[in-house]
Amino acid sequence: MSQPLRIAIAGLGTVGAGVVKMVQTHGDLLTRRAGRPLEIVAVSARSRGKDRGIDLGAFDWEDDPVALAKRADVDLLVEVMGGEDGPAKACVEAALAAGKHVVTANKAMLALHGQAMAEQAETTGAALRFEAAVAGGIPIVKALTEGLAGNGISRVMGVMNGTCNYILTKMEATGESYGEVLKEAQALGYAEADPTVDVGGIDAAHKLSLLAATAFGTRVAFDHVEIEGIERITLQDIKNAADMGYKIKLLGVAQQNSDGIEQRMQPCLVPTASPLGQLEGVNNMVVVDGDFIGQTVYQGPGAGEGPTASAILGDIMDIARGLIIPAFGQPAKGLTKPNTSSKGSDAAYYLRFSLTDAPGTLAKLASILGAHNVSINRMHQYGHDGKTAPLVIVTHATPRQPLDQALAEICALSASNAEPVALRIESL
Ligand code: NAP
Ligand code: HSE
Repeated sequence: MSQPLRIAIAGLGTVGAGVVKMVQTHGDLLTRRAGRPLEIVAVSARSRGKDRGIDLGAFDWEDDPVALAKRADVDLLVEVMGGEDGPAKACVEAALAAGKHVVTANKAMLALHGQAMAEQAETTGAALRFEAAVAGGIPIVKALTEGLAGNGISRVMGVMNGTCNYILTKMEATGESYGEVLKEAQALGYAEADPTVDVGGIDAAHKLSLLAATAFGTRVAFDHVEIEGIERITLQDIKNAADMGYKIKLLGVAQQNSDGIEQRMQPCLVPTASPLGQLEGVNNMVVVDGDFIGQTVYQGPGAGEGPTASAILGDIMDIARGLIIPAFGQPAKGLTKPNTSSKGSDAAYYLRFSLTDAPGTLAKLASILGAHNVSINRMHQYGHDGKTAPLVIVTHATPRQPLDQALAEICALSASNAEPVALRIESL
């Protein structure tokens, strides 16, 4: 029998416990497929006494994740603690410095430190893999770095946060409030430790920045992602969108424009009948456009214990078999600094205003839009609550900049009672 691959796991929450269960459940299967046993040697978490519903009796315990990473009897560290800095970063750096392989689900850390970590891994000959960090169980990093490696990629887009898709689809299906559905997503283990990272679009933007780097051969540029969350989406917006034949999705797009790379993560309207419009619950979907293959689509559960553990095991199995590929699909030092596209792309928009119901208000609003060359396609105004009139307008395609100027002027009107909501209608 070949030498076992000796594994340490830092973090025993939703993901870490899932990894332990998967290795314990499929020990023989994994050994057969890898040609060598996978052996969990030691684990670490904050609280040693916590009941995690798993048997940790066979593993050593380390209070300090850095000491865990440095153990001489460990070949591979699984980092599933979370946090962009702190102990997660410290133990990953310690493992890589010692030439040990690292598999992590930590997109927040990689979005900030991925470049330096990839370079460090290559210096010591270690693997740094992060399939679980992007789109949960979907093997999208593997698709980009291996299956599609021969293609030039022009666009990667999709739904990349399970919590947000769960909230948006469950609110529509049950009429439950945003707060109630978010609590369910947390109880199911989908949300981040701080769920504002999910609903604020930041988690999905972390993921998009990692996919963009992998697709375009550029350094991770999280600070280049335009980010907007779903916090201001109401059940009424979801119903308005449905009436017009759309669903609201937190949609990420990274695309190569003529003047550079555009990266945005924002709630958008997509046609109900489209595959993205049909995506329910915790599922994610990633669409990749390659020059020789055309379009490919990947769908699956985007969060939770089983799917994330599945992605971690995929990476571990590659390493067990001796497959060491660069973290972002090419040597890290060759990744270029990305140019950010400033022009963006035109789109139609869904606009919702809360206006004082008084003569002349609509005329003022329409003239401001007209003055900025923003053309109205459709509109409706119903559901008045006495003083306030909720007005919904769908525009024809427009650049974002004049629309933003118009919205700022409308917002400054004394008849405007709240900041307008503007959602892009994405043509797929
Ligand atoms: P979690 O349930 O909150 O678990 C975190 C684990 O890390 C816990 O076992 C905790 O210990 C341990 N930990 C936290 N801070 C620590 C510290 N300072 N020192 C030692 N141990 C520490 O989180 P999770 O949902 O499993 O997520 C873990 C990572 O996977 C995150 O990077 C997350 O973004 C990523 N991820 C999660 C999912 C998902 O669906 N949940 C999917 C993809 C990626 P205690 O248990 O003792 O408190
Ligand atoms: N909080 C994340 C989500 C976990 O909901 O998608 C998976 O990365």
